[in-house]
Amino acid sequence: MRFGPAILERADALAAITERPGMLARSYLTPQHRQAGERIRGWMREAGMQAEFDALGNVVGRYEGTNPRAPAVLTGSHMDTVVDAGKYDGLFGVLAPIACVADLHARGKRLPFPLEVVAFGDEEGVRFGTSMMGSKALAGRLDAAVLELKDAAGVTVREALAAFGGDAGALAGLRRSRDAIRLYVETHIEQGPVLLEEGLAVGVVTSIAGSSRARVGVRGEAGHAGTVPMAMRRDALAAACEMVLALERHCRASSGRVVGTVGKLAVAQGGAINVIPGDVEFTIDVRSGEDALRRAAVAAIEAALREVAAARGVALEWTPLQELAAAPCDPAEQERLAAAIQAHDLPVRRLPSGAGHDAMQFAGLVPIAMLFVRCGNGGISHNPRETLAVEDAEVATAVLMRYLESLG
Ligand code: HGY
Ligand code: MN
Ligand code: MN
Repeated sequence: MRFGPAILERADALAAITERPGMLARSYLTPQHRQAGERIRGWMREAGMQAEFDALGNVVGRYEGTNPRAPAVLTGSHMDTVVDAGKYDGLFGVLAPIACVADLHARGKRLPFPLEVVAFGDEEGVRFGTSMMGSKALAGRLDAAVLELKDAAGVTVREALAAFGGDAGALAGLRRSRDAIRLYVETHIEQGPVLLEEGLAVGVVTSIAGSSRARVGVRGEAGHAGTVPMAMRRDALAAACEMVLALERHCRASSGRVVGTVGKLAVAQGGAINVIPGDVEFTIDVRSGEDALRRAAVAAIEAALREVAAARGVALEWTPLQELAAAPCDPAEQERLAAAIQAHDLPVRRLPSGAGHDAMQFAGLVPIAMLFVRCGNGGISHNPRETLAVEDAEVATAVLMRYLESLG
């Protein structure tokens, strides 16, 4: 095998760089981000690329082509992870193109265009709540207001960037002009069961689901757990639980066209066993392949939560955090990916992505393309049980290599 074993070894090496012993957790602008980025930068340089951190902490590698004036092909994915993550979410889309460049370099070959591989420092948005800051910046879509967002310790992005050695003042300069980039292609684990259930190693992504994120505050009244009669309580946690079930009910009724998740819920000051919760906050993540349906679902969910709040005598605060429109993948690039798959005598399966990806940020600016690779264990992801077979890593990287060489 030309690619698979080295890619999995490198994924293992990166998985050892974590903020939390016993699990993989690597968030944006942390020492672990720096450490993992330095490993990736080293591999990029070994592969014959110029490589360096940019002002936002992305690691950008460039492999010059035979025609330096040709628009570059951009590829990559993210190097940050969720908490208690798998090893391959994002990282496969960084390691596979580096392996392709190393293979070209070893053969003394250059593509007829420059190839840029980007390891984005922030895609999951775990630390600061808003996601994809790196790809937004390269796409010229990053609102400078994000620099004032704070993490759980009250540190702003601006402060964390300065401590990391980044440069908040250079944000605008990261934007890639439309005519400097030919297309963006991303390789990623499917994070779902489709390829696994159909016995396929790779698939062509047709579109990426849009998403809406919000923070909900439920303000009731703290009280003594032993003395306040049930009928007189304004229990913020009981109300929040009813709200979570209302969201689930609404999404379940959509016949799979909308999915909704409450991923974080906290009682102010951590709560106490003998205190009626007065203040609760939770997050909302709603997704759909159809933007109008997603927006309607979010409006209906907010209305349902406000009904629960009114019935229970608690106040509701709804703070939108992020809206990402669904992103269609370019039809011509889908065909080109399909041809690269067929060249390996493999069947072509087209499928949508329920997960969000950095590719979304480049949609509408340049053609985007995504190649999925099968993951095992039922397709599980955002979970340490995420797996990627070395044979599938091999096939997906070989297909990516063929796709890049077919761009001509
Ligand atoms: O949330 C997502 O879809 C991605 O994992 N950031
Ligand atoms: Mn993810
Ligand atoms: Mn990902």
